[in-house]
Amino acid sequence: MKGTGIFISLEGIDGCGKSSLKESLHAYLSKYEVVSTREPGGTTISEKIRAMLLDIDNESMLPRTEAILYAAARSQLVEEVIKPALSAGKIVLADRYIDSTLAYQGYGRGLDLDYLLNLNHLCTGGVKPHLTLLLDISPEEGLRRRKKVIPDRLEKEGIYFQEKVKEGYLNIAREEPGRIKVLDGGQDHEIVLAAAIKYIDEILQHK
Ligand code: TYD
Repeated sequence: MKGTGIFISLEGIDGCGKSSLKESLHAYLSKYEVVSTREPGGTTISEKIRAMLLDIDNESMLPRTEAILYAAARSQLVEEVIKPALSAGKIVLADRYIDSTLAYQGYGRGLDLDYLLNLNHLCTGGVKPHLTLLLDISPEEGLRRRKKVIPDRLEKEGIYFQEKVKEGYLNIAREEPGRIKVLDGGQDHEIVLAAAIKYIDEILQHK
């Protein structure tokens, strides 16, 4: 990892608390150069794709169309933002990455996982996070925490869908325990933050 930056991604079901954790981690890492990303989005083209993906009028969007659009948005983000930041030795703090596609479109929508992995390998050139923090909470708690008055297209899927996504994330984590660390997102923010910082410090020490 020497000579390159550090890539950290945050994952979890809707309403799991990624955004507030990201804000606190940004503050904790203030002595470093940190580049923050959010998916889908983060470049001009990716934001246009985001609008398509979350539009509640696009009810007829096929799962495979959805998967390809997320991957296309990610492709632009990797090339325009993530790779340059890592080459410059910065820390990339990503709100969602490939694991979101595996959990939502794979486990949630039922698309083939190998197919999704290949598609995403094509779109990212194999760029992967060094560390992924998975905030695990119950779908009920996630729903309670979401403050949006009007849910977007994915949020309208309901508790059963979120349950499949949650279980999917836990399966993915079991397969890559070295990279993916599961945090109990139902705990107080300060406790979750302390656990996240412990994992990040381990990575920083080995840099
Ligand atoms: P967003 O409003 O950014 O939600 P959050 O704060 O929960 O990240 O919307 C992103 C939605 O897109 C969210 O429901 C998860 C979904 N998503 C996928 O289904 N697949 C993906 O690959 C990504 C990146 C997100």
